[in-house]
Amino acid sequence: MSTELKKKDFKKITTLALLAMKQRGEKISMLTAYDYSMARILDEAGIDVLLVGDSASNVMAGHETTLPITLDQMIYHAQSVVKAIERCLVVVDLPFGSYQGNSREALSSAIRIMKESGAHCVKLEGGEEILESVKRIISSGIPVMGHLGLTPQSIYQFGTYTVRAKEKEEADALLRNAKILEEAGCFAIVLEKIPAALATKVAKEVSIPIIGIGAGSGVDGQVLVVHDMLGITKDFSPRFLRRYLDLYAEIKKATESYISDVKSNDFPNENEQY
Ligand code: KIV
Repeated sequence: MSTELKKKDFKKITTLALLAMKQRGEKISMLTAYDYSMARILDEAGIDVLLVGDSASNVMAGHETTLPITLDQMIYHAQSVVKAIERCLVVVDLPFGSYQGNSREALSSAIRIMKESGAHCVKLEGGEEILESVKRIISSGIPVMGHLGLTPQSIYQFGTYTVRAKEKEEADALLRNAKILEEAGCFAIVLEKIPAALATKVAKEVSIPIIGIGAGSGVDGQVLVVHDMLGITKDFSPRFLRRYLDLYAEIKKATESYISDVKSNDFPNENEQY
């Protein structure tokens, strides 16, 4: 499909559009993006939501966890993504340390993201414990996406990246937190790495869209880290990940060909010079 057709035929995606998609049973597609060039391709392909995830800390900066990335760095990534898009909704993660202190700090971080990047919404990890911040941000007019289940900013508290909420107590708490976030006015919630049956139950019991990552097919949409989906990362293979390309191998092969062409003086040839 040509870009012209896409631009003409599709309206911009809003939080209300996502709600309407849930109501009519249309699944929501979401991927992460951190830079202009990739965001442009993903938006043109018709993705519904781009998440400027704090997973940038892992895949862009090479950190082991999402904890080190700063608010300034998230704003930089968000600015690049926003410049590229025409249609999709752009959600930006509030990074670790930018909202846990108190709700005033949370609001000022969210306002910086909105003002300085031009993004449409923010995402925060957690439930009841960050409720005051969620409410304060929403009351300022900024749409908030929640994130429950495996919340990577708490990795040192969890101790492992294994599936969350397998036991009844944690599952009940997760369902309760999803309802609390809905009640607070969140427009959607990400559920990460929890049993499919629990995610399906949450999606049925709340009216806002539930986007899963490692949460099965009974939810309202799916999100993946784009570097994982395209096979740019190679040492991360959780069961929930479907790789659509092996870009790591493709890029390596192309680079080897380039090196060989340069060394052998094959590149540039007569047609590739002035
Ligand atoms: O930062 C991120 O990429 C995320 C997704 C895993 C949902 O929060």
